[in-house]
Amino acid sequence: MNKKIAVIGAGNVGATTAMYLAEANFADVVMVDIIEGVPQGKGLDLTQAGPVRGYNASVLGSNKMADIKGADIVIMTAGLPRKPGMSREDLLNKNADIIKSVALAIKKYAPKSTVIVISNPLDLMTFHMQKVTGFPKNRVLGQAGVLDSTRMRTFISMELGVAMTDIQAMVLGGHGDTMVPLPRYTTVAGIPIKELIPADRIKAIAQRTAVGGGEIVKLLKTGSAYYAPAAAAVDMCRAIFNDEKKVLPASAYLTGQYGIKDIYIGVPVVLGANGVEKILELKLTKGESDSLKQSAKTYKEHLKIMGYK
Ligand code: APR
Repeated sequence: MNKKIAVIGAGNVGATTAMYLAEANFADVVMVDIIEGVPQGKGLDLTQAGPVRGYNASVLGSNKMADIKGADIVIMTAGLPRKPGMSREDLLNKNADIIKSVALAIKKYAPKSTVIVISNPLDLMTFHMQKVTGFPKNRVLGQAGVLDSTRMRTFISMELGVAMTDIQAMVLGGHGDTMVPLPRYTTVAGIPIKELIPADRIKAIAQRTAVGGGEIVKLLKTGSAYYAPAAAAVDMCRAIFNDEKKVLPASAYLTGQYGIKDIYIGVPVVLGANGVEKILELKLTKGESDSLKQSAKTYKEHLKIMGYK
């Protein structure tokens, strides 16, 4: 295949991302991890599934960052996952060091790539990735909004007993407990959910969405979610490869939109061949706007801890 996607990390999120990418069959995949043998073994195993599953994409496992050379897209999943009782911010310093070393290698070996970050705390790690690579801001983005909104879509489908794929949901803000689900912009086949679900149930669904990752951490006990995060990242890859101009929520760099600047945070974007091609500004209520700004304020404080002014 003439396109190449690099997945950094061959753990739960990385290997699942590689699997969904291979199944999508639009590029060869190289998966890099520091643990010897694991990326090679998982890569070979995934490639051997191809004849049965009907794909020709190969998955090369490696311990060398040099193998990402020439990648069109890099998906960053390396880093520690949460354990029960941990917030995403508890991962801050450890994952920041990992991001830095990987970002330097991406800059060296895949200088033209678009980078999608999944490592947590998401919005801060995406900011760090952009700063260290020095890539244009439209070519570095974070995967969170598609995940958060797919969780909300799932909960609405469970509530109404309707097809999940008929539901469109919009979630803004940080990927964490400060996220801002937007029921006003959430519909079932175009019908606003407030016409179908009572207000108290909508509130409960929005709240379950906001802590959706934590619900899974509690159940798994030894790590965090990986199927839906990986699926969300592959959806973003497809939008970039096919220049789809797809509208979806992602962590993007704001330059004054929503009254916020100089941070990465979840907003609706148009995703195409040039990465984040546009940021859409929705009209927010005062409460929604205040929550978004509160999310931004918290991130600015965390960025200071990371050494950014
Ligand atoms: N380069 C490459 N791989 C690395 C590096 C590095 N510098 N440092 C760590 N890794 C690898 C680990 O060896 C491990 O295989 O990253 C992988 C992480 O895998 P898991 O522990 O299974 O974690 P996972 O569930 O995949 O989550 C990864 O995604 O959703 C986020 O919060 C989550 O930050 C976490 C990340």
